[in-house]
Amino acid sequence: HHIEWDAEAAEKGGFDTYMLKEIYEQPSALTNTLMGRLHDDTGEVDLDIDLDPSSFKRITIIACGTAYYAGLVGEYLIEQLARVPVEVDVASEYRYRQPLVSENTLVIAVSQSGETIDTLEAIREAKRFGAQTLGVINAKGSSMTREVDDVLYIHAGPEIGVASTKAYTAQVSAMLMLALWLGRARGTLDAEKGAELLRAARELPRLVEESLQPERVANIERIADKYKRARDYLFLGRGVNAPTALEGALKLKEISYIHAEAYAAGEMKHGPIALIDENLPVVVVATESFLLEKTVSNIQEVKARSGKVIAVVSDGDEEAARYADDVIYVPRAHEMVSPVVNVVALQLLSYYTATLLGRDVDKPRNLAKSVTVE
Ligand code: G6P
Repeated sequence: HHIEWDAEAAEKGGFDTYMLKEIYEQPSALTNTLMGRLHDDTGEVDLDIDLDPSSFKRITIIACGTAYYAGLVGEYLIEQLARVPVEVDVASEYRYRQPLVSENTLVIAVSQSGETIDTLEAIREAKRFGAQTLGVINAKGSSMTREVDDVLYIHAGPEIGVASTKAYTAQVSAMLMLALWLGRARGTLDAEKGAELLRAARELPRLVEESLQPERVANIERIADKYKRARDYLFLGRGVNAPTALEGALKLKEISYIHAEAYAAGEMKHGPIALIDENLPVVVVATESFLLEKTVSNIQEVKARSGKVIAVVSDGDEEAARYADDVIYVPRAHEMVSPVVNVVALQLLSYYTATLLGRDVDKPRNLAKSVTVE
């Protein structure tokens, strides 16, 4: 057994867990996702996709779990940049609901494994009605890659930890590139704005690397320790970072077993505000945004009800930090690419909460890495 242990330790590359290793692999995973696809000189994105970007009128994104949240970011980015109506559906709903779909629909399936049965069946259902299909997939040669018309590989490398980390940031980056490609091809995104976003995308590996600086990680570990006995957690975010809140809550549930909910920040007053008391940590994604002022008001509303605010704030922003109990500073990023940077802080918060509680983060109870049976 000694030999097996050594082999596994070697595979973890000096990290205690696969999950932590994969969190730290994100800068290089993202480099691989973006590599060769962004052309700064022309502002063009080359995804080697044969689908005709002007041949559909609507887009449906289908996925499960973490991949579904990457799809929600994709919805925001594609609608903003390419002005095509997008809906996002969980695959298990889509496949049974007689979806409205035709040759004018592009169906994008997002999946790390390429094997999730609900997503696979949803693709088949879409194809029956003549949809064009594109897979945003990590695993080479997986079942889905053989069923879709075209594949955009995310090139994140093998992901072993059950809770998805590097596949998520790579999926979101892939959705960003898709949105840029569609926007440029459909004439809704001019060269100048395209080039600006392309430069922002290119910064992602470096920004994620910065998010993993030891002082930042130590601060997050301290915050995780402070709130690890909480029974519930609330996560808030808005706009392109509303899905970041959802993914943060999912990560925490999956590996620490602490109950967590997430809401678009503007919805707080329509229900979840009733949950707030001195025992509720509320994680607010409050990074640079054209709507930051509104998010800062949400922070004040939580404080006024004695909630504990953990704010995720852009470096140097003292206004957003002012009312928070604890602050997680993250590197400044263009708002449209910020979900990739911001989620890393939430992955680490979940990771340390779970490990400080003694959980087995690589094999959380009741969960499977890929769900290939119903
Ligand atoms: C399972 C995993 C999740 C994953 C989801 C979708 O529930 O535990 O981490 O997000 O399946 O998997 P896929 O491979 O299709 O992305």
